[in-house]
Amino acid sequence: MQVQIMDHPLIQHKVTLMRMKETGSKDFRELLEEITMLMGYEITRDLTLEDVAIETPITKMTGKQISGKKLGIVPVLRAGLGMVQGMLNLIPTAKVGHVGLYRDPETLKPVEYYCKLPDVEDRDFIIVDPMLATGGSASAAITLLKERGIKHIKLMCLVAAPAGIDVINTDHPDVKIFVAALDEKLDEHGYIVPGLGDAGDRIFGTK
Ligand code: PRP
Ligand code: URA
Repeated sequence: MQVQIMDHPLIQHKVTLMRMKETGSKDFRELLEEITMLMGYEITRDLTLEDVAIETPITKMTGKQISGKKLGIVPVLRAGLGMVQGMLNLIPTAKVGHVGLYRDPETLKPVEYYCKLPDVEDRDFIIVDPMLATGGSASAAITLLKERGIKHIKLMCLVAAPAGIDVINTDHPDVKIFVAALDEKLDEHGYIVPGLGDAGDRIFGTK
């Protein structure tokens, strides 16, 4: 199973707060943004740098800056929206695409309803979605991006089930998966156990 679990103590602490059923939408959203920043810091570690000539108040020097096209961030609607601001706090010039998918409650298969992406040429993308359950939604989102010519994709989730990791590893072995927590299993409705419930509902206060 190919997955990187980002279990920094701060991340583990905050995930526990998010799991608690008494945590309300305001705190849930804030914690998700904070965890996204903590994870995003590590996930962007392999960004390439180039030299840049600058002048400090004292002297000329060669500094470093991130090279190439700015990253593309793609939240899977709706719950992925809760991770966008955390990434933009780190990379304010990133471009943001959107993929709209929901899980049919009967079949648990993803249904696509929206896709709008920035210019994709030579741009690396990070797909964000808090939950990786059966893996159907994330796999479909990755396929959509690949169909548009995107070659370098990472998947960043908060809580995953082993089944979801297996699906992504099988369907898209080239895509690295980063999660804050790998849980035990799925229940009969496709919810992650112990999980944190319905991420979209908890972010937006819906039922
Ligand atoms: C949730 C979650 C993922 C998907 C994960 O979205 O945000 O996109 O389920 O499940 P899967 O791995 O089994 O596909 P949901 O379909 O509930 O839509 P929402 O974000 O609009 O609430
Ligand atoms: N989607 C969620 O929001 N939560 C789960 O546990 C599974 C899918």
